[in-house]
Amino acid sequence: SKIRVAVLVGSLRQGSFNRHLALAVGRLAPPEFTFEHIRIDHLPLYNQDFDGAYPDACKRLKQEVEAADALLFVTPEYNRSIPGVLKNAIDIASRPWGTNSFAGKPAGVIGISVGATGTALAQQHLRGVLAYLDVPTLGQPEVFIHNKEGLMDADGKITSEGTHRFLQGFVDRYVEWVRLITRK
Ligand code: FNR
Repeated sequence: SKIRVAVLVGSLRQGSFNRHLALAVGRLAPPEFTFEHIRIDHLPLYNQDFDGAYPDACKRLKQEVEAADALLFVTPEYNRSIPGVLKNAIDIASRPWGTNSFAGKPAGVIGISVGATGTALAQQHLRGVLAYLDVPTLGQPEVFIHNKEGLMDADGKITSEGTHRFLQGFVDRYVEWVRLITRK
């Protein structure tokens, strides 16, 4: 049956490599999987005063996450952690207290950076946050991509044959994992 994946990209940049990576991964999945990129660029900065009367944009984010069967986080590394925009979206969807929209949804965590560590430290931080939020996260294969010359073309298509094959391996495991957890 149909499986809906909510994709959260941790970069708002127009030409984001991570958004391109997310699109590339979506194309490698079987047709019953749909990938919906969730908007996070219009959200207010989380404020605990919201909890009494949640802003509409925040309610919509929660509804979009709740409508999904699974999650895919695709994020750059900013200063050895996850970008503030992604943490803000996670904080919003995790609240008000007792209404964590992520709970129980299987997730994948991947990323690409121009640094040699390929988002490894950002992903480690994100995995800690997701564990607290009761999100079962695929452990292997880890996807730390270092964006070097020849990896993507000008349109963001992955042109490296080796990376393409590696990503197919990730997607196959991710699909298996999501089916296992969701029983779909
Ligand atoms: C970076 N970048 C970066 N890269 C990395 O590998 N480790 C890091 O800690 C950081 N830190 C960092 C901080 C800030 C504030 C910026 C703006 C950038 C570089 C980063 O990998 C690069 O900008 C990527 O292109 C960002 O991903 P998108 O926007 O292309 O998806």
